[in-house]
Amino acid sequence: MRIEVNVNGAWRAADVWPGASLLFMLREHLGLAGAKNACEQGECGSCSVWLDGTLVCACLVLAAQAHGREVRTVEALAAGEHLHPVQEAFLEAGAVQCGFCTPGLVVAVADLLAQHPSPDEAAVREALSGNLCRCTGYAKILDAVRIASNRVRGDPR
Ligand code: FES
Ligand code: FES
Repeated sequence: MRIEVNVNGAWRAADVWPGASLLFMLREHLGLAGAKNACEQGECGSCSVWLDGTLVCACLVLAAQAHGREVRTVEALAAGEHLHPVQEAFLEAGAVQCGFCTPGLVVAVADLLAQHPSPDEAAVREALSGNLCRCTGYAKILDAVRIASNRVRGDPR
């Protein structure tokens, strides 16, 4: 079936089988490999994208459900050479090890800070509870969220 989706501001089309996920379409048909396929069961958050502005696990959304709708992926966060403040913060805090969870976490943190620029730690933990990381122990991820939160509020620390 023919699916047309507005991805990161441009209409893209692909012929997919009816059971294909949005994640499969993004990665295998559209060449957007930022969203990762780690569990394909909605457990890890590594495939997080926005669908019409709402954070979703792309592995749990059928490509057909996204037809005619707007998808934003981690690839849209950086502006050319300029990383998004959340991406900068992850680098600065050393919150990346294997990196497999990172795109999903970056998207989830960007989503959180867009809605709540100054979340307390409980709110951060709650917001990121659907994003699993096997490497970092999460402490540096929390550091990155603190740095990013300061940056989006205009505090350079
Ligand atoms: S790959 Fe979608 S939640 Fe894990
Ligand atoms: S850095 Fe490896 S899973 Fe998070």
